[in-house]
Amino acid sequence: MEVTRDRAWQTLTAYTKSEALLRHALAVEAAVGGYAQRFGEDEEIWRATALLHDFDYEIHPTLDKHPQDGAPILREEGWPDEVVESVLSHAEHLEMPRDTQLKKTLFACDELAGFIHACGLVRPTGIDGLEPKSVKKKLKQPSFAAGVHRDEVYAGAELLDLTLDEHIANVVAAMQPISTELGLRTAADAA
Ligand SMILES: [Fe+2]
Ligand SMILES: [Fe+2]
Repeated sequence: MEVTRDRAWQTLTAYTKSEALLRHALAVEAAVGGYAQRFGEDEEIWRATALLHDFDYEIHPTLDKHPQDGAPILREEGWPDEVVESVLSHAEHLEMPRDTQLKKTLFACDELAGFIHACGLVRPTGIDGLEPKSVKKKLKQPSFAAGVHRDEVYAGAELLDLTLDEHIANVVAAMQPISTELGLRTAADAA
């Protein structure tokens, strides 16, 4: 099969109806796609993988099933090993090696994209003008977006050999163009 982000979107939306989950997929796609450009990697494969990483979460909402029981569905549809293995590797509980740049990047973007999204939801201008400094401040408040694993955010930046500031700035910049799709307000709305 030809791996495209549009094909991945079809698979994702066949299994996922929740707006929050679709927005999470789009946010992670934007972040991972931004890094594909930055690293000169295959953007379609990277974007498809990001869109698919939680595709089965609605049908498999527990860690005894997600994402491992989604993998056979992806294989059945003809997704290549690179995509399926990368999807599997995002899950901490499967303890798979993150031995490719795509696996590292997916892991590094998953929790951080969610956290930045949460930061944007409480700002009148969404993520427009959101500085790494204020994201880091919120990371230190355990009650804010409590479901986001801080240790995974810090480990992700390290895996990419980036400072946390650089990683945050990259992910904010990648998500900014799709603010509206993410349900975030923009500076233009606030004006
Ligand atoms: Fe997941
Ligand atoms: Fe995720």
